[in-house]
Amino acid sequence: MDPRNGMFITFEGADGSGKSTQAARLAASLRLAGHKVVETREPGGSPRAEAIRALLLSGKASHSGPFGEMLLFNAARADHLRATIRPALAQGAIVICDRFADSTRAYQGALGEVSDELVRAAEAAVVGDTAPDLTIILDLPPELTVKRLGMRRAAEKPDRFEAEALAHHAKLRQAYLDIAAEAPERCVVISARRSIDQVAERILRLATKRLDTGAPKPPARRAAKVVDDRAQRQIR
Ligand code: ADP
Ligand code: TYD
Repeated sequence: MDPRNGMFITFEGADGSGKSTQAARLAASLRLAGHKVVETREPGGSPRAEAIRALLLSGKASHSGPFGEMLLFNAARADHLRATIRPALAQGAIVICDRFADSTRAYQGALGEVSDELVRAAEAAVVGDTAPDLTIILDLPPELTVKRLGMRRAAEKPDRFEAEALAHHAKLRQAYLDIAAEAPERCVVISARRSIDQVAERILRLATKRLDTGAPKPPARRAAKVVDDRAQRQIR
């Protein structure tokens, strides 16, 4: 049971797409508007989950393979939900989380090739009815993702490994677009190509509208809403 009085907003997208920057900007704007905001992140967000994060990001768990890592991300998520997210939502806070369960779908599922069935089963068991009200997916073409990550040469003249990096980001991007298309009532894809200020302004408008109207009923099934004409054209 999720006795939610607040609102749960997650940020998703590739590494370097601007999630942390935008999560912090949104939190600051909503606080200025008088809301109680809890900023958190995954993996992590509670002392036990941060310990699992250290293990995962150190690479010490990589021998477990994508399935083992999927279990560890979920173990961290279970504690994060219990210790941080659910109590904050129950108190009426807006919880802004940098990455959540869609990251497991994209990284361990689409990239790691853990079966959709297992990923969804673990998610259902761990997340239950604490699904996000709004998920902002920051979308960048793989070439720009690689550039933002500081591998400028890769986008210009990819060698074998750099080409692999581009393929990795293309797959990840598609995974997020698929997630958004499946849940257009929850997910909004925002092009992260614009300036930090422009992206922040769009996100604030979107979040404010959701806060004013509450979580809208799902529209008749349609493609994910993409808040950028250029992104829309790229996706097709
Ligand atoms: P993430 O949390 O998705 O990994 P960050 O917010 O840490 O991404 O941003 C990665 C880098 O890209 C940072 O150096 C940040 O200042 C820069 N950055 C973020 N958003 C933009 C943007 N819209 N345009 C240009 N650079 C950006
Ligand atoms: P982090 O430094 O927080 O991400 P970013 O680079 O986006 O700021 O690192 C988190 C890493 O963990 C990132 O590469 C994505 C990955 N991850 C998963 O593979 N599965 C998950 O469920 C989560 C939450 C993260």
